[in-house]
Amino acid sequence: MMIANSKLAKDPHSFSHPNDVRVKHLSWNANVDFKTKTIQASATYDIEHLSDTNRIVFDIKGLKIQKVLIDGKPTIFEIGEEREFLGAPLSVEIDSTTKQVTIDYSTPEGAEALLWVDGEKPFLFTQSQAILARTWLPCQDSPGLRITYDASVKVPNDLMALMSAENPTTLSKDGVYSFKMEQPIPTYLMALAVGDIHFKAIGDRTGVYAIPSVIDAAAYEFEDMQKMLVAAEELYGEYVWGRYDVLVLPAAFPFGGMENPRITFATPTIIAGDKSLVSLIAHELAHSWSGNLVTNSTWNDFWLNEGFTVYFEERIMEAVYGREYSEMLAQLSRKELDATIEEIGAVNQKDTWLKLELEGRNPDDAMTDIAYNKGYFFLRLCEETIGREKWDVFLKKYFTEHAFQVMDTEQFLEYFKKNLASENIEQKININDWVYAPGIPGNIPTVKSDKMEKVKSIAIDWSARKKKTSQISWSEWSYQEKVYFLNEIAIDNIEQMKELDKAFSISNTNNNEVLFSWLMRAVKIKYTVSYPRLEEFLTTVGRRKFVAPLYEELVATDQITLAKEIYAKARPSYHAVTTETIDKLLKNK
Ligand code: BES
Ligand code: ZN
Repeated sequence: MMIANSKLAKDPHSFSHPNDVRVKHLSWNANVDFKTKTIQASATYDIEHLSDTNRIVFDIKGLKIQKVLIDGKPTIFEIGEEREFLGAPLSVEIDSTTKQVTIDYSTPEGAEALLWVDGEKPFLFTQSQAILARTWLPCQDSPGLRITYDASVKVPNDLMALMSAENPTTLSKDGVYSFKMEQPIPTYLMALAVGDIHFKAIGDRTGVYAIPSVIDAAAYEFEDMQKMLVAAEELYGEYVWGRYDVLVLPAAFPFGGMENPRITFATPTIIAGDKSLVSLIAHELAHSWSGNLVTNSTWNDFWLNEGFTVYFEERIMEAVYGREYSEMLAQLSRKELDATIEEIGAVNQKDTWLKLELEGRNPDDAMTDIAYNKGYFFLRLCEETIGREKWDVFLKKYFTEHAFQVMDTEQFLEYFKKNLASENIEQKININDWVYAPGIPGNIPTVKSDKMEKVKSIAIDWSARKKKTSQISWSEWSYQEKVYFLNEIAIDNIEQMKELDKAFSISNTNNNEVLFSWLMRAVKIKYTVSYPRLEEFLTTVGRRKFVAPLYEELVATDQITLAKEIYAKARPSYHAVTTETIDKLLKNK
């Protein structure tokens, strides 16, 4: 595999100098200690010189550095000033002949990427994206850089360890696990999980990992994974990572899913019992091309990762479940986009551009669903303007020709123009309106879903009391229709909530997307019947996409005391990604 050492643009979120010297390979030796909740590790980096620099700079945040060696001999190192959310530069003296740098270190208590979950059998998982890999591993923590790695990890004897690498499927005898990732990956895809984890195969290249009480449900829920993998390959080319497995994490996982190579980390909140929320798996699988294979150069180009992935996700869902199904998803995506534009457009118009400007900011604050949904509709517009056949040929070629490379917005647009555009097409799409301008351009494609149209008119009639609750065929609806209905209805009176709840028992739904929409409505109108479920949800689930809006709605409706009471109970179980957001929200309230 030829990887060009092309000159990289400066990443505002990394202290490293990759145009002088680059890490190529990492050997990681670690001991995971659940008693002290720390990882003790020794990391050896193979480096490549691109200039005659005499130092290499790693990103670190909070790490306790014990010893640094070059080619086995002690060297001088210095830790620079700590900067907000970026951490600090660890600068190591090298010379022009240095081949390897070794760093012995330990993670501090509360390292942000890590969540240590207590229990009869404890669990540990990492979440590195966007810039948290540096809280558990010194690294050149920029998405434009790639490394291969091998690792040896010691964990308690009764637990299994997994990484974004070749993985075991059974317990080792001595608690030691060896890993190998032979394809180069950016450090935000470094991942580790340790727990009472079991494996169940789905297809010949796919399977699930989960704790014993969840493994069967997970295997059933994700049964279509292999079909998705085949559909994805038919669209945009060979899956190059070997296996594709999913690990179901504890409910504290702050995201829905994370596309760690070979092994997606996923929230258990998508296990609905009826496979209704598996589009999330299609999404993380799609990242095996968009993101993991062709990677955004810096977080300013985040839409290249997520917009492409939502587009690809929809295409996988269409291939496996049909156009009607994927159009219902697209309709929800359109609604989300409208809401986000309204919300953040009011604060900072530029945050609604596809190309972001994150310098001096925590990337986590501005990586909103603009990248996802505006990105999706832009690519859909390209498809519809150019024609699906030609567009698919282009995308396949794009992924193949840029495999294991970085991409920024300008490079993509140049490639696009070179390969596809005629004046006519550029005029029709109006690229600048999408990429370097706020809001939603007038040429956004229209989603065509008869089912969702129908739901909308039912929602309007029900809100105007022209349709009775008993006339709604709730049990026949998909989760998309239910969510759409709950978001579209006008509720001005608690009685309406009671009536819906009585008829459809929504407080007891197993579908967390439906439950979330319902709880949002409940908080808004203070339907306290659902508050026990609200509290249970907020104290057991840490997925930020759900919990942050609920706390926000509590604050917006003057229920701050309740928000604080629940948060006091819930906070110890949340991951740092989530507490960071909720702390900010409730501070000074
Ligand atoms: N890569 C993202 C998660 C992420 C984004 C982590 C930015 C840290 C910073 C992942 O692929 C994702 O988008 N997850 C979504 C689900 C998806 C179906 C939209 C999520 O977690 O909700
Ligand atoms: Zn994603």
